[in-house]
Amino acid sequence: MEKRNVLIDCDPGVDDVMALLLALANQDKLNILGVTTVSGNQTLAKVTKNIRKLWTFLGVEIPTACGASRPIIKEPLHGGEIHGESGMDGWDFPEPVFQLESDNGIVFLKDKIMESKGKVTLVPTGPLTNIGLLFSVFPETKEKIELISLMGGSIFSGNRTPFAEFNIYSDPEAAKIVFDSGIPIVMSGLEVTNQASIDDKEIEDLLTSEGMVSKMSGSLLNSYTNFHRSKGLDNYPLHDVVSVMYLIRPEIFKGRDYRIEIDTSKGVYRGRTAADTGELMKHNPSNTFVLMDTDREEFMKTFFHALKELDKLV
Ligand code: RIB
Ligand code: CA
Repeated sequence: MEKRNVLIDCDPGVDDVMALLLALANQDKLNILGVTTVSGNQTLAKVTKNIRKLWTFLGVEIPTACGASRPIIKEPLHGGEIHGESGMDGWDFPEPVFQLESDNGIVFLKDKIMESKGKVTLVPTGPLTNIGLLFSVFPETKEKIELISLMGGSIFSGNRTPFAEFNIYSDPEAAKIVFDSGIPIVMSGLEVTNQASIDDKEIEDLLTSEGMVSKMSGSLLNSYTNFHRSKGLDNYPLHDVVSVMYLIRPEIFKGRDYRIEIDTSKGVYRGRTAADTGELMKHNPSNTFVLMDTDREEFMKTFFHALKELDKLV
């Protein structure tokens, strides 16, 4: 089967790292054309240093560029309390020697898309600033994009406000450009990502693993889950991993079509992914396939297998 060309746009971020690891372990299915970073979980400088540290630790050469340092309109919002001061707390990575291919992530994305022989799938796992800017500055790229598999949004309740999820809330204007683009979207929102969660025993197993990638992952996740524990939560969602897992194992998910409109008002619903269920009457054609359920056992089995595959690398 032909590999799927993918570009991953991320704000590492611990769960972003787990998503990148899953993608790296599945290059028999995914042709990773490149990775871009965006301000989100931490500042652009920090998330970009994090990706360079990760590539250095793994010894891999993935074309990488840094993108937007702030949302299109909103002031930057960071998630340091969850991902730590560095944005990737929990493991003592080597100083980065990996070099970026470009410091202009929007032009980098445009070039990778237009140079690609086949169509491309975008996999955003952070705020949608880079993708919104890409479509605004280089609208010709849209016809070469077959799918956007993104982590963001929610149908019922948010995690940054009662109504908005962090990635969308961080840059609602960019999200509106993306959801209004006409490109097919698979949305991994909080309904499904909260099911794709790791538990304390599984983290402990990673921490005591012989493999360095498994051990590193357990250590990052242990740090990441400290925030959740401090909030009395015992559910540690691997949010971003879902947007990659869907491309590898779509059969373990269930979802439904919705029309998603992004609320860019300044009111309480700002950043909400408002879903037109069309139950009473169809107002608008759907633009998004929203994942609602996953087989957690199969999900985690595939995730842990990926880490074991990468253990052979380091
Ligand atoms: O709401 C979860 C999202 O916000 C994830 O992408 C996580 O990395 C943070 O960016
Ligand atoms: Ca993220």
